[in-house]
Amino acid sequence: MSPTNPARLHPTRARERTAVIIGSTRPNRICPGIARWVMNALQEGSSLGYELIDLAEINLPFLDEPLKPALAEYGHDHTRAWSELINGYRGFVFVFPQYNWGYPAPLKNALDFLYHEWHDKPATSVTYGTRGGNKGALQIHQVLDGLHMRRLDDHVEIVITDDDVDENWQLKDLEATLRPYLEQVRALDAQMTEALLDTQEQPPAAASGGF
Ligand SMILES: Cc1cc2nc3c(=O)[nH]c(=O)nc-3n(C[C@H](O)[C@H](O)[C@H](O)COP(=O)(O)O)c2cc1C
Repeated sequence: MSPTNPARLHPTRARERTAVIIGSTRPNRICPGIARWVMNALQEGSSLGYELIDLAEINLPFLDEPLKPALAEYGHDHTRAWSELINGYRGFVFVFPQYNWGYPAPLKNALDFLYHEWHDKPATSVTYGTRGGNKGALQIHQVLDGLHMRRLDDHVEIVITDDDVDENWQLKDLEATLRPYLEQVRALDAQMTEALLDTQEQPPAAASGGF
């Protein structure tokens, strides 16, 4: 996609709120540092407004709603609060590690809690792992398609090897490990900006409530 001229964005929507979701909730996780770096890289020179959402802070229980989320009849305050939060964002960048060739269960749980709130919104992923987390990315992409989100053309896979981490599997030099991916992440911002521009130019698609 070609770079977007921010001036083409509607002035009242000049800083569309876009969430960078921290998808690992473990103690000692490296995800927050990576997600913050990704958010800063996305934000650099962007007309969008990127913000972090930390699933560990949201602290959702395992899905405990009696009705399917597509009905949007929520029985719990935590679901209504999560719904309201996600409704406030126009696009999403999911940052998470690969776990056993998949993606973290709390992230799937957080996605499953809602339905219409994700619908038709642009989304992509930034994964990491010893081979970049490709298998986790493929799995979440299928789920994002199931939620009828609009996946960006590209996603980013960050390779983190034993050389990059200390004995506690913490990044020794986060900036040095992530810097090679700067242009790829910046390209995601260009695609996100273009996707949100498309949203403004087209009437919103009606969410069917089906699958
Ligand atoms: C449950 C679990 C499963 C893992 N599976 C993989 C894997 O499939 N591929 C991989 O490259 N690393 C895997 N790892 C190693 C993670 O990449 C590493 O622990 C990383 O720090 C996880 O990100 P986090 O610290 O933000 O949770 C796994 C780690 C955990 C905790």
